[in-house]
Amino acid sequence: MILDRMRLDGKAALVTGGSQGLELGMALSLAGAGADVAIVARREHKLAEASEKLGACGHLVLPIAADLADLDAALGAVDAAAAEFGRLDILVTAAAAQLRKPALEVTPEEWDHLVAVNQRAVYFMCQRAAHHMLRSERTQEEDSRGKIINVVSLTAVGAWPEVSVYGMTKGGVAQMTKAMALEWAPHRICVNAIGPGTFHTELTDALYSDPERAARIVSRIPMGRPGHPDDLAGATVFLASPASDYVTGQVLWVDGGWFVG
Ligand SMILES: NC(=O)c1ccc[n+]([C@@H]2O[C@H](COP(=O)([O-])OP(=O)(O)OC[C@H]3O[C@@H](n4cnc5c(N)ncnc54)[C@H](OP(=O)(O)O)[C@@H]3O)[C@@H](O)[C@H]2O)c1
Repeated sequence: MILDRMRLDGKAALVTGGSQGLELGMALSLAGAGADVAIVARREHKLAEASEKLGACGHLVLPIAADLADLDAALGAVDAAAAEFGRLDILVTAAAAQLRKPALEVTPEEWDHLVAVNQRAVYFMCQRAAHHMLRSERTQEEDSRGKIINVVSLTAVGAWPEVSVYGMTKGGVAQMTKAMALEWAPHRICVNAIGPGTFHTELTDALYSDPERAARIVSRIPMGRPGHPDDLAGATVFLASPASDYVTGQVLWVDGGWFVG
């Protein structure tokens, strides 16, 4: 039964970000499908609020306060989730930092920070998660050892003004997704990405709180509205579940038709 293949009962997931915005939507979709979920962010009050919502799904929840700019803390979060749940089946690298600034004004410190959070943490958390996944036993019915879902952006493909560093990091993550998918396919670890279109969250508040700018963006979305965190639920559960065992190295765009418009 195909719907049974989309259940995540008994699976353990780690979602970076996870305390708000799209990441919380993704974490809730995994918990709703049956997974135990760890979430990582810096602000503890946001983690506590999100944990309450996730706990209502009836599975284990592990909030981890860590700054992903600190690589040891980022890797510690992966190890903590694997230790708490006794396994790690799903990693979603969704947390990201944004910098809106003309390329003429970006400083090396700002560049380093975005690369540390959006690329370095993603790369090495994928690597650490893959090591945990490789240690897990597969049952006879299971084709997959693990699922990694990175989160990219329209800026990974098309240039937008004043987000040159962010777009560069996302383009790198899209390429990293393909490279890891190729290397880890023989190990049955699937590595894919979700590419959200444009959503109103804290990350994009500067755009959406300006009515003229917001109207301009929405006019370019063929479906005529920004995305809502729930819009990522189907793609997240599909890519995390056995239903996608033969899918790897892909970016699944959830963009209201942006790229075909
Ligand atoms: N919103 C959009 O339109 C859009 C479009 C395309 C792609 N995306 C991507 O989708 C993902 C989610 O975006 P969003 O809009 O939901 O973002 P958001 O609302 O700003 O949430 C960002 C999350 O990441 C955490 N975070 C940020 N920096 C961190 C750090 N250094 N260490 C640990 N946690 C950190 C934040 O928690 P703390 O601040 O408490 O640490 C928060 O939970 C990102 O990868 C983004 O690039 C978003």
